[in-house]
Amino acid sequence: MCGIVGYIGKRQALPIGLAGLETLEYRGYDSAGFAICNPGRVTLVKQVGYVQQLKDKIENQNIAGNLCILHTRWATHGTPNEVNAHPHHDCAGRVYLVHNGIIENYKELKNYLGQRGHAFISETDTEVMPHLIEELLKDENDFKTALFNALKMIEGTYAFAIINKEDPHTLYAARLSSPLVIGVGNEENFLASDPSALIESTRKVIYLKDGEVAEMTKDSIVITDLDQRPTPLKVEQLEWTLEQAQKGNFPHFMLKEIFEGPEVVKAAIQGRLKPREHLVKLGGLELAQKRLNAMRRLIILACGTSYYAGLVGEYIFEEIAGIPTEVHFASEFRYREEPFEPGTVALAISQSGETADTLAALRKAKKAGLLTLGLVNVVGSTIARETDAGVYNHAGPEIGVASTKAFLSQLTTLILMALYVSKKRGAFHTALMQELMEIPKKIQSILDASEQIQQLAATYATHSNFLFLGRRYNYPVALEGALKLKEISYIHAEGYGAGEMKHGPIAMVGPDFPTIAVVPSNSVSDKMYSNIQEIKARRGPMIAVATEGDEHISSLADHVLYIPKTLEPLEPLLSIVPLQLFAYYMGTKRGYNVDRPRNLAKSVTVE
Ligand code: F6R
Repeated sequence: MCGIVGYIGKRQALPIGLAGLETLEYRGYDSAGFAICNPGRVTLVKQVGYVQQLKDKIENQNIAGNLCILHTRWATHGTPNEVNAHPHHDCAGRVYLVHNGIIENYKELKNYLGQRGHAFISETDTEVMPHLIEELLKDENDFKTALFNALKMIEGTYAFAIINKEDPHTLYAARLSSPLVIGVGNEENFLASDPSALIESTRKVIYLKDGEVAEMTKDSIVITDLDQRPTPLKVEQLEWTLEQAQKGNFPHFMLKEIFEGPEVVKAAIQGRLKPREHLVKLGGLELAQKRLNAMRRLIILACGTSYYAGLVGEYIFEEIAGIPTEVHFASEFRYREEPFEPGTVALAISQSGETADTLAALRKAKKAGLLTLGLVNVVGSTIARETDAGVYNHAGPEIGVASTKAFLSQLTTLILMALYVSKKRGAFHTALMQELMEIPKKIQSILDASEQIQQLAATYATHSNFLFLGRRYNYPVALEGALKLKEISYIHAEGYGAGEMKHGPIAMVGPDFPTIAVVPSNSVSDKMYSNIQEIKARRGPMIAVATEGDEHISSLADHVLYIPKTLEPLEPLLSIVPLQLFAYYMGTKRGYNVDRPRNLAKSVTVE
């Protein structure tokens, strides 16, 4: 979604701001712009397309200034064009701002301001804000008072970075339900909607909370609530490294992140899993131990790939911990009228920790009095802060728009969580703990054979439809495999529980409609073999993801991608990897920029 960067300090602001903006490109956007303030003058430049095009536009121009706000826009109100791109400003050209979020009462405000002589040039909701500040400045010639009053008048969600041309030494920021983080420097301070934009400049960060406003100069940061009461500054250390946020030798972040699979599984279990002591230690859950002991039912809330991880989690919690579990699309859960039994616990899963629907579902669960847990990757994100207790993935920044390493990390952590809450401890649990330690090596062996998958993608790159099938633990893997393929290569792909195939989807099967069957050797493989035969009988091309040593499958399928043997609940950690690679190679073979799939945003902060 949209990205915000801001700088105030001793150095020239624009190169720093543009570098920060480039690190946010992965989030998805359609236009970009900046406003830079030099005493007495603001330069405003906007451009449709990528940050590089914005840079090309100002090539050979010396645009000086120590205060700058920048933005990448993912269109919501109004088409992607230069006029609608941010920053927006008032009539007099005094107030410039960039905005993430949605001003819900913008129509009323626009009418009111229009009647008072304000002229609007864009179709955006954002543009009302600089005009509103300008209007309030007529009564009260104090910029801060006007800003705070305007913030109180708008309804909706926002992260703002704001410049007042008459004060080139101050950068203002405000947040309500849309993330903003301040980077603390030496004679300079930074602002961004995503911590990854700050890594190159500083590791010291302050996460703004809802309803807070920051007033930043090069030497000071003051944070207050909307009534201008100061709130204490809590400076935290950013854990991510610069290397994690760069592509290194990989052509795309997506491929780099798939290859980080073994590392993210190790990072998730490190210090937490102690097979010899039959123990899982999750400090973040200890906070809620008493209520967790009383847990009788778990509801998992998530979107997209995190939702599919949740679906695997449903099988995991039921089999490993014996806890009845159900998974909801956060976007549906928030509008249900569902009665909750005592002992119900809600778990929100989110890589970014900022997904609007997941956050709203979590807030609903909290309001209903449920214990709320989080499984989140981005430290300090809103969901991480708003849950009662939780576990971090520690997977490092995920830059590729298509979630890959986060999925592996979520699956690993869900197993740890289930083992942690399980009151049972049998041979099965011990074996799971021991086998989990072997998973990184096994993922690595799949990655080492990626060339075969690349060749397979070359064979199938011209196909327009795919069916993905799986059962039990591998049913959500089929759904996730289909999602990866469609978002990266724009190929129509359907994921189905293999048993459902006969109830409709089999009608599509034929020589031009390949199926990918996720069929490791497990408790349901015989059922899967029957489904595969039904497809072969209809001349459907068949690719199988199967366990090494399964000789029967080679007589059924046209192509087999082998994965190492593991315990059934751990299979998704292996079976998803060939599907991630397949999607990647299909997308690149078809010539698409897989790190920036069309129409998609990394973090979906609007409903
Ligand atoms: C797909 C993908 C999305 C996200 C979804 C939830 O590859 O990345 O489906 O999984 O938008 O995002 P988070 O996990 O950040 O809440």
